[in-house]
Amino acid sequence: MYVCVCNAVTERQVYEAIDAGATTIKALNRQLSVGAQCGACVSCAKECLSKASAQKTNLPTNVFHISKQEAA
Ligand code: FES
Repeated sequence: MYVCVCNAVTERQVYEAIDAGATTIKALNRQLSVGAQCGACVSCAKECLSKASAQKTNLPTNVFHISKQEAA
Protein backbone atom coordinates (compact mmCIF):
# COMPACT_ATOMS: atom_id res chain seq x y z
CA MET A 1 0.00 0.00 0.00
CA TYR A 2 1.24 3.47 -0.83
CA VAL A 3 1.62 5.93 2.01
CA CYS A 4 2.85 8.76 -0.20
CA VAL A 5 1.39 8.72 -3.69
CA CYS A 6 3.29 11.82 -4.81
CA ASN A 7 6.64 10.15 -4.19
CA ALA A 8 5.57 6.50 -4.62
CA VAL A 9 6.57 5.60 -1.06
CA THR A 10 5.09 2.38 0.25
CA GLU A 11 4.12 1.44 3.80
CA ARG A 12 6.89 -1.14 3.70
CA GLN A 13 9.49 1.52 2.91
CA VAL A 14 8.19 3.67 5.76
CA TYR A 15 8.46 0.79 8.26
CA GLU A 16 11.93 -0.07 6.98
CA ALA A 17 13.00 3.54 7.57
CA ILE A 18 11.48 3.41 11.07
CA ASP A 19 13.29 0.14 11.77
CA ALA A 20 16.50 1.82 10.61
CA GLY A 21 16.02 4.61 13.16
CA ALA A 22 13.61 7.20 11.78
CA THR A 23 11.46 8.47 14.65
CA THR A 24 9.91 11.64 13.23
CA ILE A 25 8.09 12.89 10.16
CA LYS A 26 11.09 15.11 9.48
CA ALA A 27 13.34 12.03 9.36
CA LEU A 28 10.92 10.22 7.03
CA ASN A 29 10.83 13.34 4.88
CA ARG A 30 14.62 13.45 4.66
CA GLN A 31 14.94 9.75 3.85
CA LEU A 32 11.91 9.12 1.66
CA SER A 33 10.51 12.58 0.78
CA VAL A 34 7.28 11.73 2.61
CA GLY A 35 5.19 14.91 2.78
CA ALA A 36 7.48 16.84 0.45
CA GLN A 37 4.75 17.74 -2.03
CA CYS A 38 1.01 17.85 -1.22
CA GLY A 39 1.39 16.70 2.39
CA ALA A 40 -1.64 14.41 2.31
CA CYS A 41 0.50 11.48 3.48
CA VAL A 42 1.75 13.05 6.69
CA SER A 43 -1.13 11.79 8.84
CA CYS A 44 -0.70 8.25 7.50
CA ALA A 45 3.07 8.41 8.09
CA LYS A 46 2.41 9.63 11.66
CA GLU A 47 0.15 6.63 12.14
CA CYS A 48 2.98 4.33 11.02
CA LEU A 49 5.32 6.00 13.53
CA SER A 50 2.72 5.57 16.30
CA LYS A 51 2.09 1.91 15.46
CA ALA A 52 5.81 1.14 15.36
CA SER A 53 6.35 2.93 18.65
CA ALA A 54 3.45 1.07 20.28
CA GLN A 55 4.81 -2.26 19.08
CA LYS A 56 8.21 -1.49 20.59
CA THR A 57 6.74 -0.53 23.95
CA ASN A 58 4.36 -3.51 24.07
CA LEU A 59 7.18 -6.03 24.25
CA PRO A 60 6.91 -8.35 27.24
CA THR A 61 9.25 -7.37 30.05
CA ASN A 62 10.94 -10.77 30.06
CA VAL A 63 12.24 -10.30 26.48
CA PHE A 64 15.92 -9.46 26.32
CA HIS A 65 18.60 -9.40 23.70
CA ILE A 66 21.35 -12.01 23.54
CA SER A 67 24.25 -11.12 21.30
CA LYS A 68 25.99 -13.76 19.18
CA GLN A 69 29.00 -13.58 21.50
CA GLU A 70 26.87 -14.23 24.59
CA ALA A 71 25.02 -17.10 22.91
CA ALA A 72 28.22 -18.85 21.78
S1 FES B 1 1.04 12.09 -0.86
FE1 FES B 1 2.94 12.46 0.08
S2 FES B 1 3.48 14.45 -0.53
FE2 FES B 1 1.62 14.05 -1.56
